[in-house]
Amino acid sequence: MRYQLTPIHCRPWLLNALSFKLIESHYENHYGGALRRLNAITEKLESLDFDKTPGYVINGLKREELVALNSTLLHELYFASMGGEGGKPPAPIAEALARDFGSFNRWKSEFVAMGNALAGGSGWVLLTYIPRDRRLINQYASDHMQAVAGGIPILALDMYEHAYHIDYGANAKAYVDTFMRNLDWNAVAERFEDATRVEPPRALKQPEFGDLPGVAPEEVKAMLDAGKAVQFIDARPRHFVSRTQDIIDGATWRDPERVQDWAGELSKTDPVVVFCAYGFHIGCKTAITLRDAGFDAKYMKGGHSGWRAFGGPVRQNV
Ligand SMILES: [Fe+2]
Repeated sequence: MRYQLTPIHCRPWLLNALSFKLIESHYENHYGGALRRLNAITEKLESLDFDKTPGYVINGLKREELVALNSTLLHELYFASMGGEGGKPPAPIAEALARDFGSFNRWKSEFVAMGNALAGGSGWVLLTYIPRDRRLINQYASDHMQAVAGGIPILALDMYEHAYHIDYGANAKAYVDTFMRNLDWNAVAERFEDATRVEPPRALKQPEFGDLPGVAPEEVKAMLDAGKAVQFIDARPRHFVSRTQDIIDGATWRDPERVQDWAGELSKTDPVVVFCAYGFHIGCKTAITLRDAGFDAKYMKGGHSGWRAFGGPVRQNV
């Protein structure tokens, strides 16, 4: 399969203070060059007998394929990011920028500063949507390969010297200002709308435990920090506790084999959060047992390891 050309999206005659010569050179030589390289590499890869090709040849070609593919994609996004009148974005994306950066001006300050910081070097500044967290970040990429895994870039600023040298020489700051004045916010907003339709990665499913409610470790810590009366039960099997020698701050260990013995010590009015080593069977089963006995019990997602992974405090189990 060959990669096809995408026509230049911005109308070069509408651009403010960017010459035809610069835009044509950039599109034909740098975008076109990446696309042509990408197709040549693809053709080469298709011709290889992988069983007989040395690893260093495969490494080199796959690396160059990634460089050429990302360069192609990011240049297409760059040319689709211009052609407007800059200024302020329309409501949906303006609200998202304010939510994720504090304010539109704060977003702009960071984006522009990142562009200026690449003056004299090279790379990309991208506004990227991350479906996992349903949020936007400004992403730096010192070369074409530094992409956020699962991220969807919706706005691209090319800070390679070829993007501005013909018109601005070494004055990268003036070029960044010009880029911002040419931003096509309506196109960015459309891409944002498309990106927000991408679902986050699928959550862990444990259908064997029905609709047992779970709670994230970060939420449990926030409840404890706020002084809420949470009954926080470490229900890891006995051998886990003696082996790891640490226990979550604020939790009390109870033997999951003997729930009937200690359940009576719990209050039925305050919530119970119970966890095991990783948030699978033992924590869930213990939570179900407690719920069946009339307690307001939930299991903690990720268990003890999840708590440690997000940086929750633990103490030595002495
Ligand atoms: Fe470029």
